[in-house]
Amino acid sequence: MEISILTICYLIGSVTFIIGLKMLSHPETARKGNLIAAAGMGIAIFGTIFLYQEEGIKLGNYAWIFTGLAIGSLAGTLAAKKVKMTAMPEMVSLFNGMGGACAALISVVEFGHISHDPGSVDSVTFLIIFAGLIIGAISFAGSMVAWAKLNGRIKDYAFNGQHVFNLLLFALIILASAWYIFNPQAGLNFIFYTVFALSLLYGIFFVLPIGGADMPVVISLLNSFTGVAAACGGFLYNNPVMLTGGILVGSAGTILTILMCKAMNRPLSNVLIGSFGGNHKGTAGESKDQGNFKEISINDTAVVMSYAQKVIIVPGYGLAVAQAQHVCHELEKVLADRGVEVTYAIHPVAGRMPGHMNVLLAEADVDYDKLQEMEQANEQFASTDVVLILGANDVVNPAAKTDPSSPIYGMPILDVELAKLVVVNKRSMKPGYAGIENELFFQPKTSMLFGDAKDVLQKLVAEIKTL
Ligand code: TAP
Repeated sequence: MEISILTICYLIGSVTFIIGLKMLSHPETARKGNLIAAAGMGIAIFGTIFLYQEEGIKLGNYAWIFTGLAIGSLAGTLAAKKVKMTAMPEMVSLFNGMGGACAALISVVEFGHISHDPGSVDSVTFLIIFAGLIIGAISFAGSMVAWAKLNGRIKDYAFNGQHVFNLLLFALIILASAWYIFNPQAGLNFIFYTVFALSLLYGIFFVLPIGGADMPVVISLLNSFTGVAAACGGFLYNNPVMLTGGILVGSAGTILTILMCKAMNRPLSNVLIGSFGGNHKGTAGESKDQGNFKEISINDTAVVMSYAQKVIIVPGYGLAVAQAQHVCHELEKVLADRGVEVTYAIHPVAGRMPGHMNVLLAEADVDYDKLQEMEQANEQFASTDVVLILGANDVVNPAAKTDPSSPIYGMPILDVELAKLVVVNKRSMKPGYAGIENELFFQPKTSMLFGDAKDVLQKLVAEIKTL
């Protein structure tokens, strides 16, 4: 490619993606990193629209392009402005699905261009077109199912022999694609569209059975799929910025998937054939007689926390639901003023999206140094006076260690029961995302502090100030 202004635009785009991604790794720089990468994307998009030429001809269709851009930008801006913090994971899934759909549609459009004269292109081009189609379609359909599951519109679903069905479906997709790639001259174009439909179906059946607490792994995997599918588009168009963006998203998603698998203690192979989570016929939704639980008052909680030396706060999804992050930070400050050492224990899958708790606490300006990762926190609980659990449930459920029939069995959890006293704030005895009871709530060292997290924390802060 000759050095042109467009090449420089693409270079700027690629570099800003890398800088942006690097800055996203810390809450303090994440917002700026996002803006820098978005600016780079803007430069690459407008560079393409105005400067791209093929055989001396520039892009036309400006009315279509700008109408599409305007509709997309408006819908994206409104959605991002209106979305509640708790609905963010669903929106991320939805946007990820849109990326997958775009990548698949690029393959459909390009196939339309070449299918009438298959001899004009080599098998590598067909391979990339099929790869973009399959991965993009799986990512789109899977993300839509993930979106509907995260907002509770659909429940986990599995039928007997679903693993075998999934494997056969996947094998059929690969075999049909391979046959077409090696025999494009046969002109059996319906195979391409059949592969498209089967890939959509596979995306649905791949995500539908995954339940319990295993969704985080799938979400990050779908994320990496979209990146890889976009990279196929970049390869096809010989577009460096699309290739860089796709590779960055694909590799970041893959690293995240591996980290999530580690956090959930699940082998990646199980994720790929969609064979865990919903398949556990365990205690999900069943109610065992766990005995009695104790309650604690705001007043007593204020006293034990004020006179403690070391307190660890465990945030969970409920803290995000209650939007109680600011008052939680205030609690930390009033306790610190009284000489109490306060830190936060962050479970990697607490909340509903990777890094959910980090983002939530960063929004309230909680000092990043006060956040402890799971392994670090687990070494601290035994020397902790009070653990305050705020809207967390599955990530502190001992069934993950003790009950092989539980859908979360094997997932490492925060060992809060090692502390001298555990106070659990939630609104009721209802289960969390995995739908299972939590024996922690019935243990002798545990006391329940019922109520909405924001309301409870406001009262707790007021009470501590009077002591
Ligand atoms: P959960 O196990 O879902 O528990 C959240 C708890 O918060 C619920 O038991 C609920 O009990 C309570 N709650 C809800 N609203 C509240 C409010 N306003 N005030 C106080 N409490 C409230 O959350 P977790 O411990 O954070 O675990 C996360 C779960 O989600 C895991 O199973 C994880 O695998 C799954 N998941 C995670 C992700 C990612 S990537 N992080 C993605 C998908 C799924 P009440 O109703 O009784 O109040």
